[in-house]
Amino acid sequence: MMRDDLIEIAYLVAAFCFILGLRWLSSPRTARKGNLVAAVGMLIAIVATLVDGRVVGYTWIAIAAFVGGSIGALVARRVQMTAMPQLVALLNGLGGGAAALIAVSEYHVAGAAGEERLGAVLAVSVMFSAIVGSISFAGSLVAFGKLQELLPGRPITWPAQKLLNGLGAVVVLGLAAYASFNINDPLLWLAAVLALLLGVSAVLPIGGADMPVVIAFLNACTGLAAAATGFALGNSLLIIAGVLVGASGTLLTQLMSKAMNRSVANVLFGAFGGGGGSSSGVSASGEALPVLEISASDLAAQLVYARRVMIVPGYGLAVAQAQHPVRELADLLIERGVSVAFAIHPVAGRMPGHMNVLLAEADVPYDQLLEMEEANPDFPQTDIVLVIGANDVVNPAARDDENSPLYGMPILEVDNAENVIVFKRSMASGFAGVENMLFHDPKTRMLFGDARKSLTQLVQDVQAV
Ligand code: TAP
Repeated sequence: MMRDDLIEIAYLVAAFCFILGLRWLSSPRTARKGNLVAAVGMLIAIVATLVDGRVVGYTWIAIAAFVGGSIGALVARRVQMTAMPQLVALLNGLGGGAAALIAVSEYHVAGAAGEERLGAVLAVSVMFSAIVGSISFAGSLVAFGKLQELLPGRPITWPAQKLLNGLGAVVVLGLAAYASFNINDPLLWLAAVLALLLGVSAVLPIGGADMPVVIAFLNACTGLAAAATGFALGNSLLIIAGVLVGASGTLLTQLMSKAMNRSVANVLFGAFGGGGGSSSGVSASGEALPVLEISASDLAAQLVYARRVMIVPGYGLAVAQAQHPVRELADLLIERGVSVAFAIHPVAGRMPGHMNVLLAEADVPYDQLLEMEEANPDFPQTDIVLVIGANDVVNPAARDDENSPLYGMPILEVDNAENVIVFKRSMASGFAGVENMLFHDPKTRMLFGDARKSLTQLVQDVQAV
């Protein structure tokens, strides 16, 4: 068998691993296995690519693999779960940048071979990956900067922004078309640089709260740019992998937008959200709104006599790394005959499945987790809801206040329960930067402090009751 046939077979096996990996990643029970299978697929793909006869030398490849691999291993070990979205943004951006660079080099190769214009397939694939890859690279870096708080999280807007972006897009497309018929390196470089600027100006006006959706969208763009690069290079695996990334990124974008009851267009062009602020704490008529507090010991006494307790985890639980004490609390209450469940909102935290992963880390059994649709009918029969580091996903304004930016987002209707206890450090607002009237509801009590510390204290107090 020829070497090229063996490479194609290896690519087929790798593609199979990617698809199986994705399938398994869709459930927490099999996700670990899925990740491993996909990684093995990537190893097979890399080895098969390295034995390709078109490789002209290994020195630079070895240096790049060593430097990139070391940085990747270090970052993967060090990254906090809560910083995962920015890491994904960064990796995704690098993927887009790589696709764009390959396109630029293929364009140069065609010119160096004496061609004056690109064939139709090469023209479309090279221009697509150069432009979309550059937009994705620059946009992902801005998304990274916003999530890492290197840039302001609020939407940054300027006059005639959409018009200017639209004009910019037309210029880039025109330049790409012209460059396809007149091969000249600086023309493509210019188009790529303009596409970089377009990436920056498209993401700056989007609020920090929408960054996870933007990242999924840019991820889909990077996938398609990689697939286009696959066409340019005649590499079947790159086409398959690119299309898989493109499709999964698109599905994820739609899923997240749907869970927030917003259109993808509204997320991308709506300049939504203030990116975190503090609560004004006053009513429309200017009176100070009441805030009632509770101590851990008083709460412990109430909890052990409750029949049904629902726990609503949010981003703050992840920040505080309070998954272990919360499981301890649930176990203790169950031992005392209290019925306990966790209500999981689809966009609680900062990435899809964030709360599921966090609670799985603490071995919370899957049958204690309720999805939003299952939990909502349960709240009227619930004695106490513990809202731990969650804010936007329980904000009643999303249901009741037509003027709220959150209006229409499905929420966990915790205010239907008999008592609501909110664990957080201050009266600060959530990711969307919107005031939460739940905190001023007469049935709500605040337990201020870091969620981990509060829960650890609560566990001790429950043991003492
Ligand atoms: P948020 O609305 O972001 O609220 C988190 C709360 O946790 C904050 O109010 C904060 O209040 C509190 N907190 C932070 N650190 C804490 C600590 N150490 N101990 C105790 N509390 C702490 O969280 P959420 O309800 O999970 O909502 C998620 C938000 O992200 C939504 O707006 C959602 O649309 C958005 N989003 C999510 C996704 C996905 S896929 N998950 C995607 C896009 C957007 P203090 O500062 O006062 O403590």
